[in-house]
Amino acid sequence: MAKKLAVAIDGPAGSGKSVSAKLVADRLGYLYIDTGAMYRAVTLAAIERGVAGDVEATVRLAEELDVRLEYKSGVTRVFADGAEVTEEIRAPRVNDRVSPVAAIDGVRSALVAKQRAMAGENGVVMEGRDVGSVVLPDAEVKVFLVASIEERAKRRAKEYAEKGVEVSIEDVERNLRERDRIDSSRAASPLIKTPDAIEIDTSNLTIEQQVEKITALAVEAGAELV
Ligand code: DC
Repeated sequence: MAKKLAVAIDGPAGSGKSVSAKLVADRLGYLYIDTGAMYRAVTLAAIERGVAGDVEATVRLAEELDVRLEYKSGVTRVFADGAEVTEEIRAPRVNDRVSPVAAIDGVRSALVAKQRAMAGENGVVMEGRDVGSVVLPDAEVKVFLVASIEERAKRRAKEYAEKGVEVSIEDVERNLRERDRIDSSRAASPLIKTPDAIEIDTSNLTIEQQVEKITALAVEAGAELV
Protein backbone atom coordinates (compact mmCIF):
# COMPACT_ATOMS: atom_id res chain seq x y z
CA MET A 1 0.00 0.00 0.00
CA ALA A 2 1.29 3.43 -0.94
CA LYS A 3 1.69 5.85 1.91
CA LYS A 4 -1.25 8.28 2.28
CA LEU A 5 0.23 11.68 2.90
CA ALA A 6 -1.03 15.09 3.77
CA VAL A 7 0.15 17.84 1.43
CA ALA A 8 -0.33 21.36 2.80
CA ILE A 9 -0.27 24.25 0.34
CA ASP A 10 -0.37 27.75 1.80
CA GLY A 11 0.24 31.20 0.40
CA PRO A 12 -1.43 34.52 -0.40
CA ALA A 13 -4.35 34.97 -2.82
CA GLY A 14 -3.34 34.53 -6.44
CA SER A 15 -0.12 32.67 -5.68
CA GLY A 16 -1.33 29.60 -7.58
CA LYS A 17 -2.60 27.45 -4.71
CA SER A 18 -5.91 26.29 -6.14
CA VAL A 19 -4.78 25.41 -9.59
CA SER A 20 -1.71 23.55 -8.31
CA ALA A 21 -3.46 21.83 -5.41
CA LYS A 22 -6.20 20.42 -7.63
CA LEU A 23 -3.80 19.03 -10.19
CA VAL A 24 -1.47 17.58 -7.55
CA ALA A 25 -4.47 15.90 -5.90
CA ASP A 26 -5.47 14.45 -9.29
CA ARG A 27 -2.00 13.06 -9.89
CA LEU A 28 -1.85 11.43 -6.48
CA GLY A 29 -5.49 10.35 -6.36
CA TYR A 30 -5.91 12.37 -3.16
CA LEU A 31 -8.78 14.33 -1.71
CA TYR A 32 -8.62 18.06 -2.53
CA ILE A 33 -9.80 20.53 0.11
CA ASP A 34 -10.06 24.27 -0.52
CA THR A 35 -10.24 25.81 2.97
CA GLY A 36 -10.66 29.34 1.56
CA ALA A 37 -13.98 28.24 0.05
CA MET A 38 -15.19 27.46 3.56
CA TYR A 39 -14.31 30.95 4.89
CA ARG A 40 -16.00 32.35 1.80
CA ALA A 41 -19.18 30.30 2.37
CA VAL A 42 -19.44 31.53 5.96
CA THR A 43 -18.83 35.13 4.81
CA LEU A 44 -21.52 34.89 2.13
CA ALA A 45 -24.01 33.47 4.63
CA ALA A 46 -23.15 36.24 7.10
CA ILE A 47 -23.73 38.91 4.43
CA GLU A 48 -26.99 37.36 3.29
CA ARG A 49 -28.32 37.05 6.82
CA GLY A 50 -27.24 40.60 7.62
CA VAL A 51 -24.86 39.60 10.43
CA ALA A 52 -21.49 40.26 8.74
CA GLY A 53 -20.60 42.89 11.36
CA ASP A 54 -21.70 40.79 14.32
CA VAL A 55 -18.85 38.66 15.66
CA GLU A 56 -20.94 36.35 17.85
CA ALA A 57 -23.53 35.69 15.17
CA THR A 58 -20.79 35.02 12.62
CA VAL A 59 -19.09 32.52 14.93
CA ARG A 60 -22.42 30.76 15.44
CA LEU A 61 -22.85 30.63 11.68
CA ALA A 62 -19.39 29.11 11.25
CA GLU A 63 -20.28 26.46 13.81
CA GLU A 64 -23.71 25.66 12.45
CA LEU A 65 -23.51 26.18 8.68
CA ASP A 66 -23.27 22.87 6.89
CA VAL A 67 -20.49 23.61 4.39
CA ARG A 68 -19.74 20.88 1.89
CA LEU A 69 -17.09 20.74 -0.80
CA GLU A 70 -17.51 18.47 -3.76
CA TYR A 71 -14.50 18.12 -6.04
CA LYS A 72 -14.72 16.40 -9.37
CA SER A 73 -12.65 16.73 -12.57
CA GLY A 74 -11.02 20.04 -11.73
CA VAL A 75 -14.16 21.71 -10.40
CA THR A 76 -15.01 22.32 -6.75
CA ARG A 77 -18.68 22.81 -6.01
CA VAL A 78 -19.53 24.43 -2.71
CA PHE A 79 -22.77 23.95 -0.81
CA ALA A 80 -24.01 25.81 2.27
CA ASP A 81 -26.93 24.18 4.08
CA GLY A 82 -27.65 22.26 0.89
CA ALA A 83 -27.77 25.26 -1.46
CA GLU A 84 -25.06 25.63 -4.10
CA VAL A 85 -22.93 28.77 -3.61
CA THR A 86 -20.03 27.90 -5.92
CA GLU A 87 -20.23 31.11 -7.96
CA GLU A 88 -21.46 33.52 -5.31
CA ILE A 89 -18.57 32.89 -2.93
CA ARG A 90 -16.12 34.29 -5.54
CA ALA A 91 -18.01 37.57 -6.02
CA PRO A 92 -16.30 40.89 -5.18
CA ARG A 93 -18.69 41.49 -2.25
CA VAL A 94 -17.35 38.31 -0.62
CA ASN A 95 -13.73 39.20 -1.47
CA ASP A 96 -14.24 42.50 0.32
CA ARG A 97 -15.58 40.91 3.53
CA VAL A 98 -13.85 37.54 3.82
CA SER A 99 -10.57 38.56 5.49
CA PRO A 100 -12.20 40.23 8.52
CA VAL A 101 -14.47 37.18 8.93
CA ALA A 102 -11.46 34.84 8.68
CA ALA A 103 -9.68 36.87 11.36
CA ILE A 104 -12.30 35.93 13.98
CA ASP A 105 -10.91 33.35 16.40
CA GLY A 106 -14.16 31.43 16.87
CA VAL A 107 -14.75 31.23 13.11
CA ARG A 108 -11.29 29.76 12.66
CA SER A 109 -11.61 27.14 15.38
CA ALA A 110 -14.99 26.01 14.01
CA LEU A 111 -13.69 25.68 10.46
CA VAL A 112 -10.34 24.13 11.44
CA ALA A 113 -12.22 21.35 13.26
CA LYS A 114 -14.29 20.70 10.13
CA GLN A 115 -11.18 20.73 7.93
CA ARG A 116 -9.41 18.17 10.11
CA ALA A 117 -12.50 15.96 10.10
CA MET A 118 -12.69 16.19 6.29
CA ALA A 119 -9.05 15.19 5.92
CA GLY A 120 -9.44 12.24 8.30
CA GLU A 121 -6.93 9.53 7.49
CA ASN A 122 -7.12 10.15 3.75
CA GLY A 123 -4.37 11.17 1.40
CA VAL A 124 -5.16 14.86 1.12
CA VAL A 125 -4.03 18.02 -0.60
CA MET A 126 -5.33 20.95 1.43
CA GLU A 127 -4.82 24.57 0.50
CA GLY A 128 -5.23 27.74 2.52
CA ARG A 129 -3.31 30.11 4.76
CA ASP A 130 -2.74 28.06 7.92
CA VAL A 131 -2.80 24.47 6.72
CA GLY A 132 0.88 23.72 7.39
CA SER A 133 0.96 25.82 10.55
CA VAL A 134 -2.35 25.00 12.27
CA VAL A 135 -4.75 22.65 10.48
CA LEU A 136 -2.34 19.85 9.59
CA PRO A 137 0.94 20.66 11.38
CA ASP A 138 2.13 17.08 10.86
CA ALA A 139 1.65 17.20 7.08
CA GLU A 140 4.50 15.32 5.40
CA VAL A 141 4.71 17.89 2.61
CA LYS A 142 4.39 21.62 3.23
CA VAL A 143 4.58 24.09 0.41
CA PHE A 144 4.40 27.88 0.65
CA LEU A 145 3.62 29.52 -2.66
CA VAL A 146 4.45 33.14 -3.40
CA ALA A 147 4.27 35.36 -6.48
CA SER A 148 4.70 39.05 -7.22
CA ILE A 149 1.69 41.30 -6.56
CA GLU A 150 1.57 42.29 -10.25
CA GLU A 151 1.38 38.68 -11.37
CA ARG A 152 -1.21 37.79 -8.73
CA ALA A 153 -3.42 40.74 -9.70
CA LYS A 154 -3.11 39.80 -13.37
CA ARG A 155 -4.21 36.23 -12.62
CA ARG A 156 -7.24 37.31 -10.56
CA ALA A 157 -8.28 39.93 -13.13
CA LYS A 158 -8.14 37.26 -15.84
CA GLU A 159 -10.36 34.97 -13.76
CA TYR A 160 -12.91 37.76 -13.39
CA ALA A 161 -12.79 38.57 -17.10
CA GLU A 162 -13.44 34.93 -17.93
CA LYS A 163 -16.54 35.02 -15.76
CA GLY A 164 -17.71 38.29 -17.30
CA VAL A 165 -17.26 40.21 -14.02
CA GLU A 166 -15.97 43.72 -14.68
CA VAL A 167 -13.31 44.78 -12.18
CA SER A 168 -10.31 46.99 -12.91
CA ILE A 169 -6.82 45.59 -12.34
CA GLU A 170 -6.25 48.45 -9.87
CA ASP A 171 -9.23 47.33 -7.78
CA VAL A 172 -8.08 43.72 -7.88
CA GLU A 173 -4.61 44.74 -6.76
CA ARG A 174 -6.01 46.92 -3.98
CA ASN A 175 -8.16 44.04 -2.69
CA LEU A 176 -5.20 41.64 -2.80
CA ARG A 177 -2.96 44.05 -0.88
CA GLU A 178 -5.64 44.64 1.73
CA ARG A 179 -6.29 40.92 2.15
CA ASP A 180 -2.53 40.23 2.37
CA ARG A 181 -2.29 42.84 5.09
CA ILE A 182 -5.20 41.48 7.14
CA ASP A 183 -4.37 37.80 6.57
CA SER A 184 -0.71 38.28 7.55
CA SER A 185 -1.15 40.61 10.50
CA ARG A 186 -4.15 39.05 12.28
CA ALA A 187 -3.60 37.58 15.74
CA ALA A 188 -5.38 34.28 15.01
CA SER A 189 -3.16 31.97 12.93
CA PRO A 190 -1.83 34.51 10.47
CA LEU A 191 -0.49 33.61 7.06
CA ILE A 192 3.08 32.54 7.74
CA LYS A 193 5.60 30.23 6.20
CA THR A 194 6.60 27.59 8.74
CA PRO A 195 10.32 26.72 8.89
CA ASP A 196 9.65 23.26 7.44
CA ALA A 197 7.72 24.56 4.41
CA ILE A 198 9.32 24.72 0.98
CA GLU A 199 8.83 28.10 -0.67
CA ILE A 200 8.09 28.15 -4.37
CA ASP A 201 7.86 31.42 -6.29
CA THR A 202 5.34 30.86 -9.09
CA SER A 203 5.70 34.31 -10.74
CA ASN A 204 7.56 32.87 -13.68
CA LEU A 205 6.44 29.26 -13.57
CA THR A 206 3.88 27.59 -15.78
CA ILE A 207 1.09 25.66 -14.09
CA GLU A 208 2.72 22.45 -15.29
CA GLN A 209 6.04 23.44 -13.65
CA GLN A 210 4.37 24.29 -10.32
CA VAL A 211 2.48 21.03 -10.28
CA GLU A 212 5.61 19.09 -11.19
CA LYS A 213 7.61 20.63 -8.35
CA ILE A 214 4.95 19.93 -5.71
CA THR A 215 4.26 16.42 -7.00
CA ALA A 216 7.98 15.67 -6.91
CA LEU A 217 8.11 16.71 -3.24
CA ALA A 218 5.18 14.39 -2.47
CA VAL A 219 6.78 11.49 -4.31
CA GLU A 220 10.04 12.14 -2.50
CA ALA A 221 8.07 11.90 0.76
CA GLY A 222 6.63 8.53 -0.23
CA ALA A 223 3.47 9.23 -2.23
CA GLU A 224 2.73 7.30 -5.42
CA LEU A 225 1.27 8.62 -8.64
CA VAL A 226 -2.04 7.17 -9.77
O1 DC B 1 -7.86 31.32 -0.79
P1 DC B 1 -9.02 32.31 -0.85
O2 DC B 1 -8.67 33.60 -1.54
O3 DC B 1 -10.27 31.70 -1.38
O4 DC B 1 -9.32 32.67 0.69
C1 DC B 1 -10.28 33.60 1.06
C2 DC B 1 -9.94 34.26 2.38
O5 DC B 1 -10.10 33.33 3.44
C3 DC B 1 -8.52 34.80 2.49
O6 DC B 1 -8.47 36.19 2.26
C4 DC B 1 -8.10 34.47 3.88
C5 DC B 1 -9.06 33.45 4.38
N1 DC B 1 -8.47 32.13 4.61
C6 DC B 1 -7.91 31.90 5.83
O7 DC B 1 -7.84 32.81 6.66
N2 DC B 1 -7.44 30.66 6.15
C7 DC B 1 -7.48 29.67 5.24
N3 DC B 1 -7.02 28.46 5.59
C8 DC B 1 -8.02 29.90 3.96
C9 DC B 1 -8.50 31.16 3.67
